[in-house]
Amino acid sequence: MSTLSRRSFLHAAAATTLPAWFVEECRAQPEPATPRSKADSPNIALVGCGGMGIGDARNASRFGKVVALCDVDEGNLNKAAVVWPAAEKLRDFRKVMDLKAVDVVICGTVDHWHTLVSLAAMRAGKDVYCEKPLTLTIDEGKRLVAEAAKTKRVLQTGSQQRSDRNFRLACELVRNSRIGKVKEIDVWLPAGRKEGPFKVAPVPKALDWDLWQGPTPAVAYVPERTHVTFRYWWEYSGGTMTDWGAHHNDIALWGLGHDRSGPVKVSGKPTVEMIPGGFSAASEYAVEYTYADGVVHRCRSTAANAWNGGVVDPKGQQHGVKFVGADGWIFVTRGKIEASDPDLLKQPLPASAVRLPVSNDHMGNFFDCVKSRKAPVCEAEVGHRSATVCHLGVIAMRLGKELTWDPAKEEFVGDGEANKWLAREPRKPWSYESV
Ligand SMILES: NC(=O)c1ccc[n+]([C@@H]2O[C@H](COP(=O)([O-])OP(=O)(O)OC[C@H]3O[C@@H](n4cnc5c(N)ncnc54)[C@H](O)[C@@H]3O)[C@@H](O)[C@H]2O)c1
Repeated sequence: MSTLSRRSFLHAAAATTLPAWFVEECRAQPEPATPRSKADSPNIALVGCGGMGIGDARNASRFGKVVALCDVDEGNLNKAAVVWPAAEKLRDFRKVMDLKAVDVVICGTVDHWHTLVSLAAMRAGKDVYCEKPLTLTIDEGKRLVAEAAKTKRVLQTGSQQRSDRNFRLACELVRNSRIGKVKEIDVWLPAGRKEGPFKVAPVPKALDWDLWQGPTPAVAYVPERTHVTFRYWWEYSGGTMTDWGAHHNDIALWGLGHDRSGPVKVSGKPTVEMIPGGFSAASEYAVEYTYADGVVHRCRSTAANAWNGGVVDPKGQQHGVKFVGADGWIFVTRGKIEASDPDLLKQPLPASAVRLPVSNDHMGNFFDCVKSRKAPVCEAEVGHRSATVCHLGVIAMRLGKELTWDPAKEEFVGDGEANKWLAREPRKPWSYESV
């Protein structure tokens, strides 16, 4: 394929649905196996019964039986109990791990609990479907990867774009040089929320605020710190940089083939000032990564999308991932793949092409692996490396300087100050060993 002229490069964009050859291939791919009998049906516990946890458990019900529910907020626990009235209800996740009948744990908690819940589950012999971003810190990810290997447990990260045909096609085409040598990647993430200041309020009777905070610093209760909006506080998450970055930066790594490695340089800055006493995580930002092969990966927020991905400005830049190569570009987002030239998508890949692991059903892929004991499409290391890229962006923007990263050693090079950010001191009595 010849190098595109600047004019055609800029104007040949064509919105496309999946090409016929790829749809045909997908048709021939097997569906995940649903249970044939009770004996064949794993027992599931849901830890964290918020919107996503309940959604995940409903999705998982196709493959197993939900037998236990756990949440530190009785309100959310009761909402889940309406769906699964026969399931055992618990407040403390450690009690879930004592339930011998439970085979699988779905972790739908706030981000700062993902690691301890997943560690506890794997140590208790259970397989785990853990929501994204897999971790709150880079050090946590290293622990999860080690524990999954040690206990031989299956861990699927909830970055479900790995099981979406548009994203797999984009990554396969990029990996097979369909756009020539990759030069740049542009990742746009929905802007977060800039609101506040918020007021301290009495802790609701239904909520165990101490257990909700867990290893994070103890502070007075502010309603906006908790349900759903927890993701806009550095203490509990990383704003949309980690919330959406765990989806789109994951795809950038997948397309590049760096999903067991990472960049070598990172710099970044918030592009707005947050309101004192309000959400602390930068709602708008610009981060830039460089890989050892010279590829530049820019990750920026876009105010054309609301925090949940909804369209605010249809004419503005929409969230997604654009791979730019010497011979063209491919843009992919939820429900859409486009290219600088429609032929880039239309031509089937040759038989000799590098192909990626096929999963067209993220939860189904997890349950298939629970049976086969094979690695799922977003196993611990993959989830950890994608979260790492997001955490690197957060650390660079919070420190306000360019950082050099060693993806093999998983540490900053010659920067003791930055290396302190790899882990966070947990509030007692919590530690990796406490679960
Ligand atoms: N894969 C996706 O597309 C997707 C979409 C939305 C959310 N998520 C992820 O799902 C997770 C939950 O998000 P949400 O929007 O449902 O948040 P949420 O605040 O609505 O739900 C989190 C729930 O976890 C509970 N919780 C907190 N600490 C707990 C503990 N120690 N033990 C048991 N329960 C505990 C909270 O009380 C709450 O009910 C987040 O990590 C988020 O990033 C993923």
